[in-house]
Amino acid sequence: MKHEIILTAKGHKGTLERLEQEFSAIKLWEAADRDAALKQAAPRVRALASSGHSEVDAKLMDALPRLEIIANFGVGVDQIDLEAAKKRGIIVTNTAGALNECVADCAMALVLNTLRKFPQSGAYLREGLWQSRGTYPLGTAVGGKTLGILGLGRIGEAIAKRAQAFGMHIRYHNRNKKNVPFAYDTDAVTLAKHSDVLLVITPGGAETDKLVNAQVLDALGPKGYLVNVARGTVVDEPVLLRYLQEKKIAGAGLDVFEHEPRVPPEFFALDNVVLSPHVASATHETRKAMGDLQIENLHLHLAGRPVKTPVV
Ligand code: NAP
Ligand code: 8YV
Repeated sequence: MKHEIILTAKGHKGTLERLEQEFSAIKLWEAADRDAALKQAAPRVRALASSGHSEVDAKLMDALPRLEIIANFGVGVDQIDLEAAKKRGIIVTNTAGALNECVADCAMALVLNTLRKFPQSGAYLREGLWQSRGTYPLGTAVGGKTLGILGLGRIGEAIAKRAQAFGMHIRYHNRNKKNVPFAYDTDAVTLAKHSDVLLVITPGGAETDKLVNAQVLDALGPKGYLVNVARGTVVDEPVLLRYLQEKKIAGAGLDVFEHEPRVPPEFFALDNVVLSPHVASATHETRKAMGDLQIENLHLHLAGRPVKTPVV
């Protein structure tokens, strides 16, 4: 007998196929009456697979009184009410580790593209401007610059490794100082002051909400660049937009936004910003690895064994 599980969002195709093969999957986004679907499944459902921005809140947990595990597709779990899960004794798992390298590749690509303006210069060529206006304006060198990593965790360390290979100097700020060979700053403002490029890779959620605010951007200054691959909520987005428009910072590379998939169109008009649609982990290999880990956690728990990557 297959275990019945709740799926909150469609997500990665290969993972959805496996979830449907290996479990009796109830797809919440397809339910004509979501409350009725939950009520019908509640007496049997012990597991839920979450992904993307679909919120998993206390109300959803209460609708599933036998729920024991929420297995998330993704390392960030800011869309899940962790306190509510803890209170109810529900285990939450993520896909920690499976995506470090691809997310770090994306972060480094944004650093390179933001300072060197490769997307902008490519557009200049395609628009025929090379021929009509002449050579494209000079960019900024990456080697020799200081990269300040806000959130030197699993992904932050993978980014540091890449940035060092590009000749960058590394500094960081976490709430807790680590045993690493990089200079530590006690807060985000000090890190920004010491950095040419401030790279944000903390978790999202209430703790980090607007951690990168006007004060931090002032410290980064008109020659400084911001790269955000964490969550849109970590940066005060309207303030960032204004600072880019007024050239109070030199530029930004953004993979994440406050109200995804909506991105303020004012960003599109700016030449000093490089944008990507939350694709840092979006490779065939990494998305498969994430799905495999999510499903492994579900199977382990339902077989009465410890999960691999618990958050709560
Ligand atoms: P991790 O290993 O837990 O690292 C997070 C780091 O952030 C830790 O070093 C932590 O250190 C620091 N941190 C947490 N709260 C902080 C705060 N208030 N102020 C300063 N530093 C703080 O997590 P990870 O696996 O590297 O993932 C990090 C995040 O990246 C995820 O949660 C997710 O939101 C984001 N992400 C985005 C994408 C994407 O597609 N763009 C993909 C994957 C992950 P302390 O605890 O010492 O503060
Ligand atoms: C995914 C992410 O895009 O892991 C994370 O925290 O942000 C990304 O890898 C997302 O989780 C897919 O649902």
